[in-house]
Amino acid sequence: MTTTTDPSSTLGELTIDGDRLWDSLAALGGIGAYDDVATGLVGVRRLALTDADRDGRDLVVGWFRDAGLEVRQDAIGNVFARRAGSEPDLAPVMIGSHLDSVATAGRFDGCLGVLGGLEVVRTLDDAGISTRRPIEVCFFTEEEGARFGTDMLGSAVAAGRIDLTDAYALTDRDGASIGEELVRLGQVGAGPVPMPRPPHAYLECHIEQGPILADHDRQVGVVLGVQAINWWEITISGRAAHAGTTPRGLRRNASLAAALITVHADEMAASGDYGRLLTTVGRFEVRPNLVNIVPALALLTVDLRNPDADALDRARTDLRACVDSIAERTGTTITVRETAHTAPVDFSPTMIDLVEATADRLGLSHERITSGAGHDAGEIAAIAPAGMIFVPGLYEGISHNPREYSTPEACADGINVLLHCVLACAEQ
Ligand code: GLV
Ligand code: MN
Ligand code: MN
Repeated sequence: MTTTTDPSSTLGELTIDGDRLWDSLAALGGIGAYDDVATGLVGVRRLALTDADRDGRDLVVGWFRDAGLEVRQDAIGNVFARRAGSEPDLAPVMIGSHLDSVATAGRFDGCLGVLGGLEVVRTLDDAGISTRRPIEVCFFTEEEGARFGTDMLGSAVAAGRIDLTDAYALTDRDGASIGEELVRLGQVGAGPVPMPRPPHAYLECHIEQGPILADHDRQVGVVLGVQAINWWEITISGRAAHAGTTPRGLRRNASLAAALITVHADEMAASGDYGRLLTTVGRFEVRPNLVNIVPALALLTVDLRNPDADALDRARTDLRACVDSIAERTGTTITVRETAHTAPVDFSPTMIDLVEATADRLGLSHERITSGAGHDAGEIAAIAPAGMIFVPGLYEGISHNPREYSTPEACADGINVLLHCVLACAEQ
């Protein structure tokens, strides 16, 4: 597949093929494509372990095989594609991210990191470069948490934070479990979890999903770490009653309780009392959802984010107390189930410096940045030195929206940084 060339002799000139990367992103973006009524755009809907996700996996695994990579899968459906190194027994340099999407996605979130990894391999093959360490390009199952309610699931299982049995038991809204869906789609591999041997280093390139890099006119983000994330699922039981005849004092109004929680969560973020807290009620359902019935039931989710773990914990405690007082005030019964909680992650200083020095050497403007979104790199950082590269997004950096967009040039810049970081790590 490759001839041995001293990588240092070609480092300066070696660049990825930006058109090939862009074409791969477009082809993968066609899987799970749908017409988004809100934006008038074609979006991507490839929720984890759906048929569309399986089709996306199959396409990418086919590309891995075409590139001569040795593909293996673990018990939670994570896929690893290996390019041999000249010293095959050394721990590999891993490049990863995810292929699953939220329900209203663009084509970059996650896919850029995986297809960027593939582009790194294709570039090395074209240049006839072999590396000392093996390189593994991988994608992790259910990074988004959009279907089964827990984010970074596959990488958390691979890194040993979440137990496989617990992961298999997670269900979607229709009651289908991860274990069942993995079997249905033929995605249960023989590879053990947690990963028996951590990689030598882990690198992930991702669209920023926020406005900072574009605002500051930077080509690359040097990611310092990932902020803390805490998810709740709240069930509010009230009592169905007639809208025209039930006096306020006799109501047990589930939608009112849900609305009060929603507003209070936003006021907490606005208060400044919890640092850089962000709160989102992303799911809000009432039943029976009819015009003349006081709702009997409400289901909502809360997403809390904060780079400061203590401030996040204070927000958790205060919001929980508020939920209790809203239950009392509205005569409802409220249960709170925590579905995800990850502490803030600091990436390895060595990897941060490597990403920064590489961007510098390639003449790309850059800035250090903390990730607002969760990433698989945050999980793998628990077992190996991990680093991330961000590329800027347009349109205020909007993401989890079909409008999500980064230019071909910006994607190529990020993957060129990835390429040279991988080369440096692969020779260590
Ligand atoms: C993943 O996209 C997350 O940060 O929720
Ligand atoms: Mn992502
Ligand atoms: Mn996402």
